[in-house]
Amino acid sequence: MKLALTGYKPTGAPHLGNYLGMIRPALELAERHEALYFIADYHALTTVTRGREVNDLTYQAAATWIALGLDPEKKALYRQSDVPEVCELAWILACSTPKGLLNRAHAYKAAVDTNHLRGRDADAGVSAGLYYYPVLMAADILLPGADIVPVGLDQQQHVEFARDIAGHFNSVYGPILTIPEPLIDERVATIPGIDGRKMSKSYNNVIPILASFEQLRKSVMGIVTDSRRPEESKDPGTDVIFQLYSHVAPDGAVDEMRAGFEHGGMGYARAKEELFAVLVEMFAGQRERYRDLIADRAELDRLLFAGAERARARGEPILARVREAVVGRR
Ligand code: TRP
Repeated sequence: MKLALTGYKPTGAPHLGNYLGMIRPALELAERHEALYFIADYHALTTVTRGREVNDLTYQAAATWIALGLDPEKKALYRQSDVPEVCELAWILACSTPKGLLNRAHAYKAAVDTNHLRGRDADAGVSAGLYYYPVLMAADILLPGADIVPVGLDQQQHVEFARDIAGHFNSVYGPILTIPEPLIDERVATIPGIDGRKMSKSYNNVIPILASFEQLRKSVMGIVTDSRRPEESKDPGTDVIFQLYSHVAPDGAVDEMRAGFEHGGMGYARAKEELFAVLVEMFAGQRERYRDLIADRAELDRLLFAGAERARARGEPILARVREAVVGRR
């Protein structure tokens, strides 16, 4: 049976883009495969610098995944920082990884480009951790020997790097590491945010899913539209409300909204109300479950520690072979 692995970086409250782009596909995949899920708290350190905040966000992420359907008694859910072997493997991998590979990482290149535009030194404000990020991510994937990594489109390059990093290691030391495959759900490659750009915490344009009704309402009503009146026809292909609705509403309702946009008769205010209603309904049970879970950190810890034990048990024999190869003993 193939092993799927999914990591989630805890840098803000999970939003609709996270859910449609990665959480839902990852949970669906788990029905057919063995699966490991983890909260990548050490990855969050490149942007979140207060420990307490990392800790709070990690619990929120764990409670979200469980509320949304991950059964932690059946599948392992763990914190990256509870599996210290990941960091050990990351260093070893770094030593057979060409530095030039990391120069090509999108996130690093974007930081360098911004610096150029502002006339600053190429690496100004870039931590070695940001640069090394793909190596840590490769270690997450390669330690337990994952075969499949379901990710959003923005993480495709990172999974390809993990393949390259495993390939470089294997070419030096022999075929020890499993080469993983990225799995990208094409249907939901990019979910637009309320301003029309890709939904992302860093653009501050997200629709939170398990937040209060007021917050959910505020974000849906805040979707940016033009000034066309209800009776005017609109292009559903480019409309953010319709795009989001088509991912969450039943087919019949989606057809109705499409017709209303194309032929006129569907105003933006009404379309937003309909989107809001579907989202309230879609996450009703989960919102309650989330509230219970987040209030019981001792129980979350119990589940997370048990998950970490399972992940470590999978990684142990692989790390033993790696250590044997690189330092000549287990
Ligand atoms: N980098 C991913 C993100 O930003 C999170 C992540 C860390 C991850 N390690 C991983 C995803 C391993 C998949 C597999 O969301």
